Parts: sequence; structure tokens; C-alpha cells
Amino acid sequence: MTSTAFEASVRSKARGSWNPHEVLPNDLDFLVLLSSSGSIIGNRGQGNYNVDNTFQDALAYYRRFRGLRGTSLDLGHMLDVGVIAERMDDLFAGSLRAAFGN
Ligand SMILES: NC(=O)c1ccc[n+]([C@@H]2O[C@H](COP(=O)([O-])OP(=O)(O)OC[C@H]3O[C@@H](n4cnc5c(N)ncnc54)[C@H](OP(=O)(O)O)[C@@H]3O)[C@@H](O)[C@H]2O)c1
Repeated sequence: MTSTAFEASVRSKARGSWNPHEVLPNDLDFLVLLSSSGSIIGNRGQGNYNVDNTFQDALAYYRRFRGLRGTSLDLGHMLDVGVIAERMDDLFAGSLRAAFGN
């Protein structure tokens, strides 16, 4: 993986999670981060995305450690809505199927 590909992902998802943590008020009732099961089990060829999701999990822990609200949901594949559902027929989904052997 190139450093450019790594940084492009981290700049959007990890940084995109850190920004609301920094700028929103401390007394939020909730802050839910949509992480992935890849943060626990990994996804082949998606090291950058795995870093992003692990970061989100750590950020939720960090917030709670500081007495703030924070939850990170480690989602599996959503087949009805979202990027996988929208791109099920193309190369992206094909690579996912290849990675998982189905
Ligand atoms: N779909 C799944 O199966 C699945 C599984 C595990 C985890 N997740 C996680 O769930 C979350 C949502 O996934 P999804 O499938 O709903 O994805 P999606 O349909 O592609 O939606 C992604 C959303 O993120 C916004 N976004 C993208 N790049 C951004 C950036 N640089 N700054 C600010 N916003 C940005 C997009 O805004 P625009 O619409 O304006 O482009 C869009 O609203 C993601 O964090 C994903 O990692 C999804």
C-alpha cells in the first residue's frame, strides 16, 4: 500500500472522527462512531481502513475514560444500505467476495 493511499483513508475517516470530538461540546448525550469488524479481525488489503476503525474504537474508549459519551459500533457488512449495497455488482464487491472466499 502506498503512503498516499494510507493517508487518504486516515485523513478522511480517522481525522473525520477526531474533528467532532474536538469541536463539539463536552456535554453531548451521545457520540456514535461507525467502525467496522475489520478493526478486530482485519480485512485483507485494507490496512488503512483497519487503522481508521481501530482509531475510532480507541477514540470511544478515550472519551469514556475522560467522562465523555462515546460509542464505537464495529459493524459487519451491511448488504441492504451503504457503500457495499450500492456497489454490490462491481469490482469492489468482487474483491470482497474474493477476500472472503464466496
Ligand atoms: N456499509 C457497510 O457494510 C459498513 C460496514 C462496516 C462499517 N461501515 C462504516 O459505516 C460508515 C458508513 O458507511 P456507508 O456504507 O453508509 O458509507 P457511504 O454510503 O459511502 O457513506 C459515507 C458517508 O461519509 C461521508 N463522507 C465520505 N468522505 C467524507 C469526508 N472526507 N468527510 C466527511 N464526510 C465524508 C459521505 O458524504 P457524502 O454523501 O456527502 O459523500 C457519506 O455521507 C462508514 O464509516 C463505514 O466505514 C460500513
